[in-house]
Amino acid sequence: MTPLRTIDWHDGDIVIVDQTALPAELRTLRVHTVEELVAAIRRLAVRGAMALGVAGALGIALAAIRARERGEDVDRATEDAAARLIGARPTAVNLAWGVDRALVASAGGPAAMLAAALAVLAADIEANTAIGRRGAALLVGRRRILTHCNAGSLAAVERGTALAVIGALHDMDELDLVYACETRPLLQGARLTTWELGRMGIAHRLIVDGAAAGLIVGGRVDAVVVGADRIAANGDVANKVGTLAHALAARRAGIPFVVAAPESTIDPATARGADIEIEERDGREVLGFGGAVTAPVGTVAANPAFDVTPADLVSAIVTERRTIVPSASPAFAIATLV
Ligand code: MRU
Repeated sequence: MTPLRTIDWHDGDIVIVDQTALPAELRTLRVHTVEELVAAIRRLAVRGAMALGVAGALGIALAAIRARERGEDVDRATEDAAARLIGARPTAVNLAWGVDRALVASAGGPAAMLAAALAVLAADIEANTAIGRRGAALLVGRRRILTHCNAGSLAAVERGTALAVIGALHDMDELDLVYACETRPLLQGARLTTWELGRMGIAHRLIVDGAAAGLIVGGRVDAVVVGADRIAANGDVANKVGTLAHALAARRAGIPFVVAAPESTIDPATARGADIEIEERDGREVLGFGGAVTAPVGTVAANPAFDVTPADLVSAIVTERRTIVPSASPAFAIATLV
């Protein structure tokens, strides 16, 4: 299978896979300005923690290059771009991290910022490969995996995190079935994860989010593997809304709940999960889908895009460098993993 390149730099523009068009159409979008990039981030044309990190870094390079072309002040343009990019989606720390990675090269001008951004892109692919291997080694013998949202190639540059682990288990012939939760309201699981699993040739079942707990507690799932948008210093994990319910069910069933994420998702400046800003999105995303209205006119929705799983429910956090077992994790989870 040819690896899918979700985000890249091509001939002076950022090129992204437009994730709003999937699964119907695999089309790319050329992004020429920071305004276009911010709009693409807000409407989730590019999404997922690591892809956002790369978008942030490339966005700074884009701002610098466009400012130089127009004879404008490069420093002012990149500062302004940084504020707008970071403000586009507050929960995934990788976005701000990627912006910072490019900004630290600002003394070298636009070319240096682009080189720094391309280094972030290359490092993401390497990190994902390492996470896949490390996570799979931890989960050998656990042949039925449940995942939530999309933590695959489309959430990164290539491969992803949770789907990198799942892909590595598949390559090792250690996988029977993946349950992909549809992930309301925007259906990243139904639209994107199933599309990726299909391309990877991995057997999977799409389930509604509400079916997950019953399958887990009913003994039909051997491990839950998800990505993360921000991991606080104490090990609390922010990920797509609905993740916490899977962690609670996994604890009840005594199966591992594993978070696969690069080091850049760990935010030492955020002490605990309660300090993580949870993006509140437009209620219309909950009130319908694809143009169909599914609630009575006048219904008011609440739409938190993420939730926080406390560290004591996390069996392991697998990064490209290490496997972290949050200290509060009970022994049974550790014992089942080693
Ligand atoms: O709102 P999204 O689609 O950007 O949310 C994405 C997720 O929650 C993913 O699980 C997370 O970014 C990890 S991706 C490796």
